[in-house]
Amino acid sequence: MYSEKVMDHFSNPRNVGEIQNADGVGEVGNAKCGDIMKMYLKIDDGIITDVKFKTFGCGSAIASSSMATELVKGKTIDEALGITNKAVAEALDGLPPVKMHCSVLAEQAIKSALLDYSKKNGIQIKGLENFD
Ligand code: FES
Ligand code: FES
Repeated sequence: MYSEKVMDHFSNPRNVGEIQNADGVGEVGNAKCGDIMKMYLKIDDGIITDVKFKTFGCGSAIASSSMATELVKGKTIDEALGITNKAVAEALDGLPPVKMHCSVLAEQAIKSALLDYSKKNGIQIKGLENFD
């Protein structure tokens, strides 16, 4: 049912934790399942230089957030905004259909952290206009 990559990122999640004085912090939740994902970004010159996460949720949510942190690290803000939940799920070699919403949480956590960054710095990030 779960790919080896999902199992790997669930049992050995990358970039778990918090970043003190993060440049952007995002927190999202899924009302239906009650799972919560928090993402911390360090951004230097428009590049995401560090990222950490904490997820209170199911295995797929943990694997999705772990993979999402790997995908955004070293990326520009624009590139990070382009990371869809489908890309996260594909990078995990797929998720069961009932678990796709866990990857949506990861996409939203990235966007929520970038929105926080944009607010803190009084800048507008193209592509986040409709996200809040
Ligand atoms: Fe049980 Fe998310 S609600 S795992
Ligand atoms: Fe809700 Fe995985 S079951 S995030």
